[in-house]
Parts: sequence; C-alpha cells; structure tokens
Amino acid sequence: MMNRTLLVTGGAGYIGSHTLLALIAAGYRPVVLDNYSNSVPEVLRRVQQLSGVPIEFVEGDIRDGKLLDGLFQRKAQDGSPVECVVHFAALKAVGESVANPLAYYDNNVGGTTTLLSAMDRAQVRHLVFSSSATVYGEPIELPYSEQHRIAPTNPYGWTKAMVEQVLKDWAATGEARRAVALRYFNPIGAHASGVLGEAPQGTPNNLFPFITQVAVGKREKLMVFGDDYDTVDGTGVRDYLHVEDLADGHVRAVQYAGQAAEPFSAINLGTGRGTSVLQLVRAFEQASGKTIACTMQPRRPGDIASAWADPALAYRLLGWKAERSIEQMCADGWRWQSQNPDGYGG
Ligand code: NAD
Ligand code: UD1
Repeated sequence: MMNRTLLVTGGAGYIGSHTLLALIAAGYRPVVLDNYSNSVPEVLRRVQQLSGVPIEFVEGDIRDGKLLDGLFQRKAQDGSPVECVVHFAALKAVGESVANPLAYYDNNVGGTTTLLSAMDRAQVRHLVFSSSATVYGEPIELPYSEQHRIAPTNPYGWTKAMVEQVLKDWAATGEARRAVALRYFNPIGAHASGVLGEAPQGTPNNLFPFITQVAVGKREKLMVFGDDYDTVDGTGVRDYLHVEDLADGHVRAVQYAGQAAEPFSAINLGTGRGTSVLQLVRAFEQASGKTIACTMQPRRPGDIASAWADPALAYRLLGWKAERSIEQMCADGWRWQSQNPDGYGG
C-alpha cells in the first residue's frame, strides 16, 4: 500500500496551487516547499479552504540541501516517506532571464541538482518536472512533437532544456529512478471557484493576465505584439490550456512515474489547438461582457508566429487530454480576476 506522500516544490505558485487541489482530490498528501519568491502565504490558506484539509508547509529554498534532508528524514520517520517530488519551483520570466542569466541557472538548474542529490540521500526515486514548450524554439514543423529538436532562444528556456538533460542522466543511473518532464504549452484561466488564480507581480509578461487586468480596469489597453504574422489574422497563435486540465495532467504523471517503463519521459501538455491573440481577446470579451481596448504594436523580439502541441503522447502514456474549452478558460479567468482585482493582496 502506497502512503501517497508527495513533496511539491513551488506549490504556492500559480500552477502548483491548482495542482495541490487536484492531488488532494486524488488522495495524495502533499507537503509544500516554497520560498515565497513569487507567491504569498494567502495562496495556501485558500487551497486549504477549498480542499478542507490542512496542508503541510515548509518555507524554504530548494537550494538548501540541509533543509531538504531534514524534510525527507522527518517524513520517513513519521511513517510517511515521500514517494514522489512534483517540482514546480523555478524563476520563469524570460526577459529577466536575459538580464540576469546566472540567477536563472542557479535557481532553476542548481536548485534541481541540489534537490536530486537530497532525493538520492533519502532514496526518493520519482520526480515530475515543470518543463515548457519553450524548449523547442523556432518550429521546424507544427504541431511540435516530443521529437522536435531542442533549441531554446533565451536563458529561461535553456534552464528547462538543461534540467531535462540532468533528469535524463539522473534517471539512467538505475535503482528504479523515474523522471517525467511535462512540457507545458500556455496555461491560462483559474480554478472554477474564482478563489485561486494567477496573480503576477507588476506588469504581466504573458497575454492572458494582461487581458484580465485590462478588463478589470487596472490597465488601459492591451498591446498586441505584431499583426503581420503568417497566421489566421496576423497575430500570434498559441496553444492555451486550462490550468485545471494542466493540474490533472500532474496527477496522471505522478501515477505514471510509479509504473513507467522508461526512466525518463518528456511529454507535451497542450490541447493540440492554436488560438490567435485576437481570437482569445474576442472569446474573453464574450465571457466577460467587457470590451478589451487593443493597440497594434511591433512584434515582440524573440516571439514566434505559431506554436501548438501534438498531445498524442500524453494520451498514450498518461491517458490525459485537455477537456476544457477556450470559453471556459476565459470565464474562469474572469471570475478570478473580477472577484480578486488585486490578486491575493486584495
Ligand atoms: P510561479 O512563479 O507562480 O510558481 C513558482 C513557485 O516557486 C513560486 O511560488 C515561487 O515562490 C517558488 N520558487 C521559486 N524559486 C524557488 C526556490 N528556489 N525555492 C523554493 N521555491 C521557489 O510559476 P508557475 O506559473 O506556477 O510555474 C510553475 C512552473 O511551471 C515553473 O517551473 C515554470 O517555469 C513552469 N512553466 C510555467 C509556465 C506558465 O506559463 N506559467 C509555462 C511553462 C512552464
Ligand atoms: C512566453 C515565453 C515562454 C514561456 C511562456 C509561458 C517569451 C518570448 N516566451 O511565451 O518562454 O514558456 O510565455 O510562460 O516571452 N502577446 C501580446 N501582448 C502581450 C503579451 C503577449 O500580444 O501583452 C502575444 C505574444 O506576442 C504571443 C501571445 O500573445 O503571440 C502569447 O504570449 P505569452 O502569453 O507571453 O506566451 P508565449 O509568447 O507563448
């Protein structure tokens, strides 16, 4: 009988918090480690409120090997040794990674090797990792399959590619080690309750939180970065997926890690469908009843025209596919933003 205790690094973040709920619903007992570098304690209070169970939390850094040793030892002594690590903790702003690459290599790559070393000392063998479709870079062909060449275009993307390589090499050392790297496409939306959602600090880097902040009156208008791409309407096309679908994908990945034939797997998590900036804006306007003022701007450096996933491997290996529509992503994202105009601070 498995005890189902998990360590969730970065569990107070956007994707981590939604995943905690899905893991708890599936019968797992998550222990969260987060240093609150990009989140606040209120998030976990709300996860507890929604789930109805207390969540064990350790405030600290994945780069602190001693702290990790203590955590793994304590859980083992309690009779609930950690079965799998779900590893979200990372820095994730592309522009910041260009300006300060060493902070990204240290936190994302160094943090992961420290975590893996502590896992080895504690004989914890399974890990699920937050990778990103950004590892593919400029598409040679679409949809991106997992066999697409890896060619990130910025330090953030390189940290994801490097960690995947580290995991592959680590898992290959045997002793039943298993690592599953999930290559997320573009997660958006919020928990259907409106109680949990994305709360970026400062100006949002990504499209969807920018749209929701315009809708709620925090920003005047959306800048559309490029309307001359070779796409349906000239604006960039991406594969947006609901954060709750993504959360479910992690539950499947944890289960898969326990029985995977291969030591290492990299798996796309996306819908397989592309949506343009203007199509997303329209869908959001429909869902919210708000008008989103837009201004056309030059292309954002480093952006590609289109990206979407081949999600077949996720279905084959994990039995997972995205279920929720763009309309649902918009409705849930709007419920969160309108009920929490200042995010977790409001
Ligand atoms: P987030 O910033 O909301 O969550 C990350 C959490 O990790 C935060 O709570 C932060 O405080 C914590 N953290 C960061 N460094 C830490 C450290 N050294 N020790 C302990 N905790 C630390 O980000 P998110 O959007 O939830 O993303 C989660 C993961 O998914 C990240 O690895 C990110 O790179 C990856 N990812 C995100 C997206 C996206 O669009 N959001 C897309 C692809 C991949
Ligand atoms: C970005 C990151 C990528 C990361 C992903 C998810 C870059 C170059 N890439 O990808 O590494 O994995 O987020 O976190 O930053 N857009 C606007 N106006 C805005 C913001 C975005 O028009 O204010 C457009 C973009 O040009 C793009 C689309 O919206 O066409 C989606 O942008 P975004 O949400 O930033 O995601 P990605 O570009 O896919």
